Amino acid sequence: MKIALGADHAGFEDKDRIARMLRAEGHEILDFGTHDATPVDYPQYGYAVGEAVASGQAERGIVVCGSSLGIAMAANKVSGVRCAPVMEPYSAELARRHNDANVLALSQRLTGWEMTKRLVRVFLETPFDGGRHAHRVAQLFEFDDAQRSRTLRAIETGAVSDALTPKELLGASD
Ligand code: RB5
Repeated sequence: MKIALGADHAGFEDKDRIARMLRAEGHEILDFGTHDATPVDYPQYGYAVGEAVASGQAERGIVVCGSSLGIAMAANKVSGVRCAPVMEPYSAELARRHNDANVLALSQRLTGWEMTKRLVRVFLETPFDGGRHAHRVAQLFEFDDAQRSRTLRAIETGAVSDALTPKELLGASD
């Protein structure tokens, strides 16, 4: 698989370890840096990995920062990216099964290396369930101007329009 990697100064060591591990398994790695502890701005690395995935240069992306949070926020700014910050395996599995996450965000400061390896494994090997999740995932990219004005109207009126009725919502299995 072609996998884009990126990290800031608080995540580059795990990013480099992940790169070595995945190359040894035969994956093709696009490494956008950073490569040392010189402080850098995590958004730039989140954007780079996000663009690589959204444009199809890479099938998946993995980003690492101190907490996983900032770099995930950056990656998610790129349209087409579904980046999940994850610290335990069940979230990693659901991010794939329900959300079709195409970028994984990891925390070097809060997650040990053994867990990080497991999260990467789950992220790369778990399929998307599709089915009822597919149209929800598609909606993630419908937040265009029309959706934004519907949302603003809903916030003003306190009623979400064009949504499922409460009965339909209660009928959904989850
Ligand atoms: C860097 O100190 C830290 O803020 C960054 O790696 C990340 O945790 C941001 O969300």
